[in-house]
Amino acid sequence: MLINLSTIPVSEKQNWLQHAIAPRPICFASTIDTSGNVNLSPFSFFNLFSNNPPVVIFSPARRGRDNTLKHTLENVREIPECVINLVDYDMVQQMSLSSCEFAKGVDEFVKSGFTKEKASLVSPPMVKEAKVKLECKVIEIKSLGEIAGAGQLVIAEVLCMHVDESILGEDGKIDQQKFQLVARLGGDWYCKIDGRNLFKVEKPNREIGIGVDAIPESIRNSKFLSGNHLGMLANVHSLPIINPAFTDARLKNIIQYYGINPSEMEKELHLYAADLLNNGKISDAWQVLLSGDNF
Ligand SMILES: Cc1cc2nc3c(=O)[nH]c(=O)nc-3n(C[C@H](O)[C@H](O)[C@H](O)COP(=O)(O)O)c2cc1C
Repeated sequence: MLINLSTIPVSEKQNWLQHAIAPRPICFASTIDTSGNVNLSPFSFFNLFSNNPPVVIFSPARRGRDNTLKHTLENVREIPECVINLVDYDMVQQMSLSSCEFAKGVDEFVKSGFTKEKASLVSPPMVKEAKVKLECKVIEIKSLGEIAGAGQLVIAEVLCMHVDESILGEDGKIDQQKFQLVARLGGDWYCKIDGRNLFKVEKPNREIGIGVDAIPESIRNSKFLSGNHLGMLANVHSLPIINPAFTDARLKNIIQYYGINPSEMEKELHLYAADLLNNGKISDAWQVLLSGDNF
């Protein structure tokens, strides 16, 4: 299915894009105007774009309904500062409530029931309940257009971070399993990050992986190994060679029972290698696969 974004209504563009480009972290931005009115609103067009300098961008778009500007944008034009509060599961319903189109000057801290906490370097208050808060200086505002729905990029440098100790691990750093971040997907969908849906992928960039193209053809074209399996096999730093000392009962059985039938043996070896890879045993999987190549 090919979707030509230039020929469909805005609401459909939004639907396709926001369901596909997901999950998006939520910037819960607190801002203030020159009269001291505080605003608090969530924005999922948000991310980290630079570590050094530490720069984030979020986008309060022109309102789709009437093409007016969001109060957050008006505020950062007046006072180029904000606090970005990161949203975890305990905050999600109140955060959603704060996104109602309250009239200008209405304090969403009060409406959504969050507590103000004084920031150390900027004038907008922080959300006390948030476990991570970023005090930011707005360094540039870039408009992506004048039509309804056009994004307005607020580019902000993070001056300092507040991190609640309850989400730190034993190493003193943020423990991704303790910090139950939520993120926005399409429509009404959100996701919650917790131990059940987290997994690790070893970084490939410490040493160069051999690449999928360097995997022997019989393994690369296997019907039993997935793209994820090939990605793991290709992340070794040199093509492994057979280790004569490698032996185990399942391998011995496969060779014993299927030795007379090469295609069945290859299937069994590839299925065994897939099991090993699913358990992170990459060098064992290579040994199993190479022992098949030996026949
Ligand atoms: C989770 C969530 C994410 C949102 N993300 C955005 C966004 O990225 N850009 C945007 O313009 N509006 C977004 N909205 C809607 C705004 O929060 C909403 O328009 C809000 O009322 C703006 O408030 P303000 O006019 O006080 O700045 C989002 C709403 C929710 C609940």
